[in-house]
Amino acid sequence: MVIGIANPIPRTSQFSRKPPFLDRPPDVPKTSFAGNILSLGNLRWGAWNGLHVKPLNLMVACAENRSMGLAGRHPWHPLRIAEDMRIFHEQTAGQTVVLGRICFESWPRAALDGRRPVVITSNPSIEREGVRIAPSLPAALAIADALPGEICVTGGERIFEEALALPRPLTLHLTLVHAQMPGDRFFPEWRHLPWRETGRRESADEHFRYTFFTLERPR
Ligand SMILES: NC(=O)c1ccc[n+]([C@@H]2O[C@H](COP(=O)([O-])OP(=O)(O)OC[C@H]3O[C@@H](n4cnc5c(N)ncnc54)[C@H](OP(=O)(O)O)[C@@H]3O)[C@@H](O)[C@H]2O)c1
Repeated sequence: MVIGIANPIPRTSQFSRKPPFLDRPPDVPKTSFAGNILSLGNLRWGAWNGLHVKPLNLMVACAENRSMGLAGRHPWHPLRIAEDMRIFHEQTAGQTVVLGRICFESWPRAALDGRRPVVITSNPSIEREGVRIAPSLPAALAIADALPGEICVTGGERIFEEALALPRPLTLHLTLVHAQMPGDRFFPEWRHLPWRETGRRESADEHFRYTFFTLERPR
């Protein structure tokens, strides 16, 4: 089932334009881990150019009004949606997780359960064994493409915006919480995009009703 066909993408949409960073290698310092990967040359650049890139899994839980964060927490804090947290941890275990610095710092299990975090940050002190850093989403994905396993992009706001604009295959793992919530971080509007719905499951706890969607976009 294709959702969102009532609002087809305008011809001038973000997906009809080639993002400027695809015209050149991403701008990463040669001394960084990402720089070392890029220095492998044509093979790496071929991957960047779309020949060998991995699909991205975007993982988000948001309210009907797209609110996904408030004051550094989920909008529903101090309530927890335990089923969503359990599924999120299961789906990301053993995978490469690409995430912003605030998400990394607020997720104690980011580097546990076999996860390989690639943290987008300008702060070099974040880097340690098992935790890679990158200065931008393109640089983080260059690192992630070279690692084993799947790539899970877990936010935050700017990272989701940039990831949705990439000409890559995407799977959106969306937990849509059927409530209007206050927020200071919002998931980008996704409903008008031409997703193919491959999964949908309704669920609830004592506070919320929510739906687990799996939505795919070939490129
Ligand atoms: N409900 C959900 O599924 C979900 C998912 C994700 C996040 N959230 C919520 O969103 C909030 C955290 O997300 P956030 O958007 O505030 O922060 P974030 O993206 O986790 O971290 C922001 C920091 O990451 C770096 N960064 C992020 N995007 C970048 C980019 N495009 N290029 C270069 N650097 C970049 C910068 O780090 P430096 O300052 O170190 O340079 C920036 O200050 C929390 O409230 C969290 O609960 C919710």
